[in-house]
Amino acid sequence: MKENKPSATATLIARSQIQLAQTQSWAVDAGYLAQYRRFVAENSPAQRAFLKLTEIFAIPGLYLHFALRKKLIESIVQSQIEKGAVQQVVVIAAGFDPLAAALHEAYPLIRFFEVDHPATQVIKMDALADAGSNLFFCPADLTKTSIADALAPEWFDASLPTIFIAEGITMYLDAKQLDKFFAGIRVRAQHPDSSVIFTYMARSPLGVIGFDSQTWLARLWLQLQGEPMKWGIEPENIPGFLAARGFTLNRDHSAADLSARFMAGRKELRLARGENICWASVANT
Ligand SMILES: C[S@@+](CC[C@H](N)C(=O)[O-])C[C@H]1O[C@@H](n2cnc3c(N)ncnc32)[C@H](O)[C@@H]1O
Repeated sequence: MKENKPSATATLIARSQIQLAQTQSWAVDAGYLAQYRRFVAENSPAQRAFLKLTEIFAIPGLYLHFALRKKLIESIVQSQIEKGAVQQVVVIAAGFDPLAAALHEAYPLIRFFEVDHPATQVIKMDALADAGSNLFFCPADLTKTSIADALAPEWFDASLPTIFIAEGITMYLDAKQLDKFFAGIRVRAQHPDSSVIFTYMARSPLGVIGFDSQTWLARLWLQLQGEPMKWGIEPENIPGFLAARGFTLNRDHSAADLSARFMAGRKELRLARGENICWASVANT
């Protein structure tokens, strides 16, 4: 991302969800919608036109994909909280994602943390100035600071069962940054019930990283925003990737799983395919 500017992709995601809610209100939770409006305000007519063109010509089905991946991630987090299996939730590279803002009020005994680049996070901190005392902001440029250092020890307790969320970030890291990224999470995931949910681009057998519906315009836009996609992995290599980093696979969700779970009766809608949602637990040593 560009230095001193909030992430363009985080802004696009929030704006896209406000746009999607106009036509597919079932896909965007009302509580989430209210939070997006706090973070990026209402879309102007020019922004609506840009979002429409992006959806048609850059990555058809992308906005629905964002909405369904968020639904899935929230359902995993909520079911773990309800089971009593989690005491801390850490959202890494949170952008304008509403999960922590929405859930910290519903679960006052759970501690929520957001780690993000300061240029993006400052907007959210302003919007959530009245948040509960169980929501903590940890600004960090993860190219300079490790996740382990970003999670300040006086607030964060690595020995508690914790769920880490890394949505829409691994594709922007190179292999070296990615190793540092997972090593930082693993150092802070000391409880045997701790786990991580992360999304990744499912690399094709030809080595292509991107969505199935993506055109050259999407690549150009990401390049211009300083957020080109760099990393992906074939889904069949995920168990080995995780084992090498001290994690074990619980479940890897593809677009087909999202469609089966959330799109009953709506199969005619276009859903972008190419980014999986992986949930992995700390491996027994
Ligand atoms: C594609 S957005 C994803 C936002 C959110 N997770 C979601 O899915 O709605 C990428 C996020 O990564 C963050 N990010 C990018 N580079 C970063 C860096 N060097 N350090 C910390 N965060 C960074 C941005 O601030 C942004 O919030």
